[in-house]
Amino acid sequence: MNYISNTASETASNAVIETILSRSAAKYFDTNAVLSDDQIRDLVRIGTSAPTSFHLQNWRFIAVRTPEAKARLHPIAWKQPAILDAAVTFVIIGQLADASTVPARLAPVVEAGIMPAHLVPEWEAPARSLYDNQPQRQRDEAVRSATFGTAAIIYAARSLGLGSTPMIGFDAEAVHREFGLAEDEIPVMLLTVGPERSGNWPQKPRLPVADVLSFA
Ligand SMILES: Cc1cc2nc3c(=O)[nH]c(=O)nc-3n(C[C@H](O)[C@H](O)[C@H](O)COP(=O)(O)O)c2cc1C
Repeated sequence: MNYISNTASETASNAVIETILSRSAAKYFDTNAVLSDDQIRDLVRIGTSAPTSFHLQNWRFIAVRTPEAKARLHPIAWKQPAILDAAVTFVIIGQLADASTVPARLAPVVEAGIMPAHLVPEWEAPARSLYDNQPQRQRDEAVRSATFGTAAIIYAARSLGLGSTPMIGFDAEAVHREFGLAEDEIPVMLLTVGPERSGNWPQKPRLPVADVLSFA
């Protein structure tokens, strides 16, 4: 068997792992901090490098960052202060998986010379068998994709010294209506991002690995 061997100290000094291990959910944000539209675009660009099933990229992001937009979101997000305080709160939107989008999503991959064109139908067919007339799977994929994208933004933010918190404390129907989501779109999560102010807790202890890992 081939495997990669790392000593404990190599793992501890790895910058990516350090970013993952040091992240915590930020409650208190610097209320004066602003992220530029370019900084916000950059975070979403990094977020969209996350993988999606069949390369569907079935997601969309609304950056709520003006006082007016925050005032619209705050009352329908359990009046969580972080919505007003954080530089930006993303409405992370998952789109129901739609296999008919596969050829369009793969076109740039073929164009880039990564995938031969003849493979496109070989991706679309299994996608159709998986998702066509399968509302639960379509929805599961919306949530999965949005969650991967969110995770990538969270760790990118952390590596840039920004705090973040994913949030499920909001009225999904109200957010859907207020921010004009389409019929096939689900507000999967909110994600506050911005420079922190003091007082945030460090990362909480996790269940022991022995409790959550089994080998097969
Ligand atoms: C899906 C999800 C939804 C969450 N919703 C909220 C929320 O609405 N408000 C909040 O303050 N924190 C929320 N959190 C943050 C969790 O409470 C936090 O991640 C957890 O307590 C562990 O804390 P830590 O990551 O700082 O160790 C949410 C986290 C996740 C993953």
